[in-house]
Amino acid sequence: MTLESDIKIESVLQEDRIFPPSTEVTEKARIKGFHEYKKMVDYANSNPDDFWGNSAKEELHWFEPFNKVLDWSDPPFAKWFVGGKTNISYNCLDRHLQNGNGDKQAIIWEGETGEIRRFTYKELHSEVCKTANALKELGIKKGDLVALYMPMVPEAAISMLACSRIGAPHSVVFGGFSAEALRDRLVDGEAKAVITADGGFRKDKIISLKPAVDDALSNNSCPTVQKVLVVRRTNENIEMQPGRDIWWHDLIPSQSTECPALPIDSEDRLFVLYTSGSTGKPKGVVHTTAGYNLWAHLTFKWIFDIRSEDIYWCTADVGWITGHSYIVYGPLSNGSTTLMYEGVPRPSNPGAFWDVIQKHSVSIFYTAPTAIRAFMKTGRELPDKYDLSSLRLIGTVGEPINPEAWMWYRDVIGGKNCPVVDTWWQTETGGVMISPLPGVTSTKPGSATFPLPGIQADVVDSEGISVRDNEGGYLVIRKPWPGMMRTVHGDSNRFRESYWEFIKPKDGSLIYFAGDGARRDSQGYFWVMGRVDDVINVSGHRLGTMEIESALVSHQSVSEAAVVGRPDDLKGEAIVAFVTLENGVESSDLLLTTLVNHVKAEIGVIAKPDKIIFTDALPKTRSGKIMRRLLRSLASGKEVSGDTSTLEDVSVLDKLRN
Ligand code: WT7
Repeated sequence: MTLESDIKIESVLQEDRIFPPSTEVTEKARIKGFHEYKKMVDYANSNPDDFWGNSAKEELHWFEPFNKVLDWSDPPFAKWFVGGKTNISYNCLDRHLQNGNGDKQAIIWEGETGEIRRFTYKELHSEVCKTANALKELGIKKGDLVALYMPMVPEAAISMLACSRIGAPHSVVFGGFSAEALRDRLVDGEAKAVITADGGFRKDKIISLKPAVDDALSNNSCPTVQKVLVVRRTNENIEMQPGRDIWWHDLIPSQSTECPALPIDSEDRLFVLYTSGSTGKPKGVVHTTAGYNLWAHLTFKWIFDIRSEDIYWCTADVGWITGHSYIVYGPLSNGSTTLMYEGVPRPSNPGAFWDVIQKHSVSIFYTAPTAIRAFMKTGRELPDKYDLSSLRLIGTVGEPINPEAWMWYRDVIGGKNCPVVDTWWQTETGGVMISPLPGVTSTKPGSATFPLPGIQADVVDSEGISVRDNEGGYLVIRKPWPGMMRTVHGDSNRFRESYWEFIKPKDGSLIYFAGDGARRDSQGYFWVMGRVDDVINVSGHRLGTMEIESALVSHQSVSEAAVVGRPDDLKGEAIVAFVTLENGVESSDLLLTTLVNHVKAEIGVIAKPDKIIFTDALPKTRSGKIMRRLLRSLASGKEVSGDTSTLEDVSVLDKLRN
């Protein structure tokens, strides 16, 4: 991890507003009041084997019982529920059929173009079985990686469950990534097949997907990929390569609706999901079967305090971990009704979210602060036009939420009577780690409050010593938990180095750290302050600055590039790139557009710089390190403060100021 030694975590203003749970919420809640939460915490901490072991036995179906709860003999490589065999697709489907819930709605889907599709658990089970059989027919076997590059259609969830049913790990690649980015992920994961669609609808436009897959596979650049399964969604004209490409509608309908779930080892890979880190290449975060299933299941149940009549909606995309854990696996494992929406608020339907809540009587709503800030900006008139009274709980995820956005969310969307859960977690943690519990926690706007039972979170210095109240530090987890990532695909050293060796306790123990700074107040509330590494968070999307830099430098006109985040009212952070050009290349508006498009092509539209600043030189230390801290100040229009004595050439700074 590249972290500047001079980075300081600034303390934020004290927040005094506090909202205790109402008696009504607490009475109905599964975990009632702080004493019950405390009891769980104490039990988990004093007897983790029983806490996790009993939870796993109670919450999941086992084809074969496990004989050891946690094997931590080779840290940081954990093995949970050793020797057990289960299947997450079974836990999400079959057991609900056996419990008499086969006719319950599993997925309600609404497309951007207005159509609605519903699947009961029975129907979803059939679709998943058919798809699993089709994958087998295509030659997919246990252990083969299947990549998904799809719009938000039910077939995405069906494909994930079909893969896990036969023990084929999936690797979902967000549809907003470019062909280049897709190719990198296919190659790194050695994918055997790709499931995609002709295209998808996004903000009143069509985005094409299959052509990007063709591009990614061209010139035999991913030789492991044998088959491409294509869902028809937009009806565009696309090319189908004989022998490789098959239409979903030609293959799936005729399959048998029975496909027994394969008993899968607890520690067999369930999925790989790529995420950005401090270094250039995205890492394939590996999650395994049983531990992930348990953590997604438990956290969903606790945090949303789910009831059988709930209509739950998470606005994420299945291309991110939030979609994995809280659109698909968490809700379905609990037998809940999960709503999947293809659209986002857009010119033709700015009130789309509120419309969906009203239409489907959504009771639990889970979205990102960036969306809330955007709505806040356009005013309450829009949401006020809709009946949002079905809501009983609202949540946020993805980035720190500023107290004012939190208050607006609570008042305007939650009608002042819905608990707000601000959930902190990461792709790597599999599920939420720090969050209020609706019947337990008195919330403070902007704080993710307390760690969940079993999670030993702390704020520490670089030696792993807890810092004092209200002092900033590194947010860490001290003990393994079932949902933790197991490794970086193909690079276990990177896993150890990036996450477990950054904090260096004197006794040599291992502590998990994945890049966030935080502070804990005198009442023990956690305040997450955002990344302290070279990762920026743009509208809840995580991007490595180095990744964007490599994309820029790969253009023939660019000599050097440094990318930093600048605080942005709506997106959280905006991308600012400082670029020096090759000798003889002149800066121009045309070049600016070319470079923006180049980044789009290399990574995807989400990584598009908001601003490119051409400069003759970048501020560097005498040892040649780019001083990003200075660039960050410059980009956000702040006075450059702190030590500049290590600068090799001070005049560079003066030029940049102008
Ligand atoms: C990073 C992880 C995990 C779901 C989506 C993002 C930031 C996430 C919060 C929150 C403050 C948050 C952190 C974290 N983050 N939730 N409630 N408060 N920051 O997953 O792409 O792996 O990004 O998102 O910086 O490290 P991800």
